Amino acid sequence: MTASLISTLPGRYYTDAAIFAREQQTVFEAMWICAVRSAELARPGDFRTVRIGRESLLVARGRDGALRAFLNVCRHRGARLCTSESGSVKRSFQCPYHAWTYGLDGKLVAAPNLTNMPDVDRTEYGLAAVHLREWLGYAWVCLADDPPSFADTVTGAVTERLGDPGVVDAYHVEDLALGKRIGYDVRANWKLIVENFMECYHCATIHPELTEVLPEFAEGYAAQYFVGHGAEFGEEVRGFTVDGGEGFGRLSGITPEQDRRYYAVTVRPQVFLNLVPDHVIMHRMFPLAPDRTLVECDWLYSPDVVARGLDISHSVELFHRVNEQDFAACERCQPTMGSRAYAAGGVLVPVEHHIGQFHDWLLKLVPD
Ligand code: FES
Ligand code: FE
Repeated sequence: MTASLISTLPGRYYTDAAIFAREQQTVFEAMWICAVRSAELARPGDFRTVRIGRESLLVARGRDGALRAFLNVCRHRGARLCTSESGSVKRSFQCPYHAWTYGLDGKLVAAPNLTNMPDVDRTEYGLAAVHLREWLGYAWVCLADDPPSFADTVTGAVTERLGDPGVVDAYHVEDLALGKRIGYDVRANWKLIVENFMECYHCATIHPELTEVLPEFAEGYAAQYFVGHGAEFGEEVRGFTVDGGEGFGRLSGITPEQDRRYYAVTVRPQVFLNLVPDHVIMHRMFPLAPDRTLVECDWLYSPDVVARGLDISHSVELFHRVNEQDFAACERCQPTMGSRAYAAGGVLVPVEHHIGQFHDWLLKLVPD
């Protein structure tokens, strides 16, 4: 019955440079974006640069222990302040052009010959600060002057999907340790990656290992279809690993109802949160071009598992394969988005109303 099928976004939404530029502005430079794992910047002076929308941001830990984010642009003549992806400085950032120097709190602390310019206000010429919040052990940043409510757009979205804030709280994601990180340079539009993550219609076709562990996925009903639903492990499955073998038991806070289940949450616009009994997998997407997206995927375990150097390869391998299978599917679609066969878009099957909601949300921010 074609009447029940919903159309997707038109093909040009995945290829058009002007639409991509509008998305960067009204989505990625306007909403809360999950940028950096806080524990990566453990000591004062540790920093990381990250691209958000069309800007480069510098996230650094101050001498007071707080994380701060700034636009990575020198206030003197606009040189890129910091070109390394990550590192550590003693107490300040110095611009390589004329040596203006900024403290870890962003204030201008020194500039050659500035004594000859007594009128320069060092606060006024400090680095431009960007809003930063920490949640789930990550620094979330927002480039908007007046950011949207974090409760409405981030924590509330997770609660809405899981039905109860206690579900995510139980994993204590902020206390987990990074076991593995893999960066994927995906040659596909970021929305293809979001849509793919939200559907499970493809699971039976492309995810043999995942459907072994989560048999209900073979039926095509995404874990995100039902509010609060966690997909149950198969009867023979002992852990969320590539062969269904033993994992690391279960994280101390989770309830018996959460055991042997997989929960998936999409936090618009760029985070996928995957919760399983013994670890958490967090994806963050950074769109680089209409047809290119960097996906950083973190596997987080109990600190004890990481400190003891236990072998996590079996659990990492499961979602690494899922990622590679998913991204290959997205890359298969990207080159055809510009085809006349897809000019009006495609269709969603009836179980995918939640993907339709994603399209409605996007179209409100980036109207046709
Ligand atoms: Fe940075 Fe001149 S542009 S010090
Ligand atoms: Fe998939």
